[in-house]
Amino acid sequence: MNEGAVLECRGVSKSFVQGPEVLSVLREVDFDVARGERVAVVGRSGSGKSTLLHILGGLADPDRGVVRIEGRSVAEMGPNARARLRSERLGFVYQFHHLLPEFTALENVAMPLLLAGVAPADSAQRAEAMLGAVELAQRTSHLPSELSGGERQRVAIARALIANPAVVLADEPTGNLDRETAERVFEVMMTLAERSGTAFVVVTHDTAIAQRMDRSVSLRDGGIHAS
Ligand SMILES: Nc1ncnc2c1ncn2[C@@H]1O[C@H](COP(=O)(O)OP(=O)(O)OP(=O)(O)O)[C@@H](O)[C@H]1O
Ligand SMILES: [Mg+2]
Repeated sequence: MNEGAVLECRGVSKSFVQGPEVLSVLREVDFDVARGERVAVVGRSGSGKSTLLHILGGLADPDRGVVRIEGRSVAEMGPNARARLRSERLGFVYQFHHLLPEFTALENVAMPLLLAGVAPADSAQRAEAMLGAVELAQRTSHLPSELSGGERQRVAIARALIANPAVVLADEPTGNLDRETAERVFEVMMTLAERSGTAFVVVTHDTAIAQRMDRSVSLRDGGIHAS
């Protein structure tokens, strides 16, 4: 076990069976992320980036191999422990925001705290501060449908970070934003990460963003390569 790692991925393999075909997407992937480290994952479309992220976050199981978050094997957790891990130690940012449409920006951001049993007034106060940090103090009562794409993405980032997770897994968080907004969203993410010591694994096609991370790895032929 790697003591300094917040996330460890050892010999992870994953195939998809489609009729007579077996598609081997990940082959014995080894990948560690240190506490607070920011890693970009790049690779061509279909190379397995989202598949890897899902496995790292316990949303999918590998065929072989082990994923440990803060030293604990995800496979050995029952469904409740896994759900708790996801809501308390991990944050997710998806390419398309996945906000709850019937809830306001404030409610969306407060949701992880409410689910973790934090009192409503406390949750709302922290969500408000977090929305301020992503420069959305004036948008707290807007519904997702009343926000721009970049604003929604910032709400999603605020939500991913509100419970001080150990690791945020982000799948092309700036993929559908214009360059300037992408830069701003990225900056906000990095500033908040630094403040809370949160590690980031960010899938991105954006080489400018990949270069600004601590490290960049490339997924190719089912394996991880330094890039
Ligand atoms: N549930 C599934 N069943 C069968 N095949 C799948 C499944 N999920 C993913 N795949 C296949 O696995 C490969 C990797 O998919 P994945 O979504 O991880 O790629 P990606 O690197 O994220 O690509 P992109 O950059 O386009 O998002 C693809 O060829 C995809 O068709
Ligand atoms: Mg993908």
